[in-house]
Amino acid sequence: MKKITSTGENLTLFPETTDTCKKNVFSTERTVQTPAIDLPDLLIPNTRLKMDGLQFLSHLPVESVPVAFLDPQYRGVLDKMNYGNEGKSREKRRSALMQMSEELIGKFIQGIDNVLIPSGHLFLWMDKFHLCQGFKNWFDGTQLDIVDLIVWNKDRFGMGYRSRRVSEYCVVLQKYPRKAKGVWKIHNIRDVWLERTKTREHPHQKPIGLQGELIAAVSNEGDYVIDPAAGSFSVMEAALSKGRNFLGCDLIEYNSSIKM
Ligand SMILES: C[S@@+](CC[C@H](N)C(=O)[O-])C[C@H]1O[C@@H](n2cnc3c(N)ncnc32)[C@H](O)[C@@H]1O
Repeated sequence: MKKITSTGENLTLFPETTDTCKKNVFSTERTVQTPAIDLPDLLIPNTRLKMDGLQFLSHLPVESVPVAFLDPQYRGVLDKMNYGNEGKSREKRRSALMQMSEELIGKFIQGIDNVLIPSGHLFLWMDKFHLCQGFKNWFDGTQLDIVDLIVWNKDRFGMGYRSRRVSEYCVVLQKYPRKAKGVWKIHNIRDVWLERTKTREHPHQKPIGLQGELIAAVSNEGDYVIDPAAGSFSVMEAALSKGRNFLGCDLIEYNSSIKM
């Protein structure tokens, strides 16, 4: 099968989908259906809700959504590097954000586990230090486990005393029962993804193209995609671009006029 990738390359991928290979794990068929959901009045789809993410999750019906994103406000990298002038001459926007403790991140993950349908996915953005030091205890007691990892090459030169950061990591978690067949329907997403964000509305803005592909892989048109700490609402843009609905919030409304 020939595919044109997001970067315009012509790739030979997996064999054409036929009735025979539909039965294998590379099928482009998704058999999972999401039940219709009744939303409380305060959860307005496809808008930028301003509220606490844990409160938001508590209003969603149990087992109601196939896909969630979580991009916690980590302090890890900045604390480790202790650059000294954070919040003064530099990084004003970043240091003004609400930071999340590991305990709070665990609560977000528990809330997401509660609202995901069986075999639903959580895409958890991760920084280098947590990735190396371990984060498995964050989803203790949930029905989630790690099934994949995608490296985002931001194509921007970041900070670092030794190597300079150009990447971030998206850990793919799936709720029990964990399987790809009949659930994950796009099979040409590279696990190293090059994408430069077009705008800098938020210091931690994530790639809309990659998030859109991930959404399309694990949901059906019209399904709800959630993000309880949405920042610039890049996940909303990704979801809408793929014909999905979005529900999500942030504690803060970002003012893009503040310089980074
Ligand atoms: C890393 S940023 C998310 C960036 C986002 N993924 C994007 O593409 O723009 C994390 C966000 O979590 C928000 N946040 C922190 N604590 C929160 C809470 N309790 N409820 C909702 N949002 C929260 C911060 O305001 C921040 O915008």
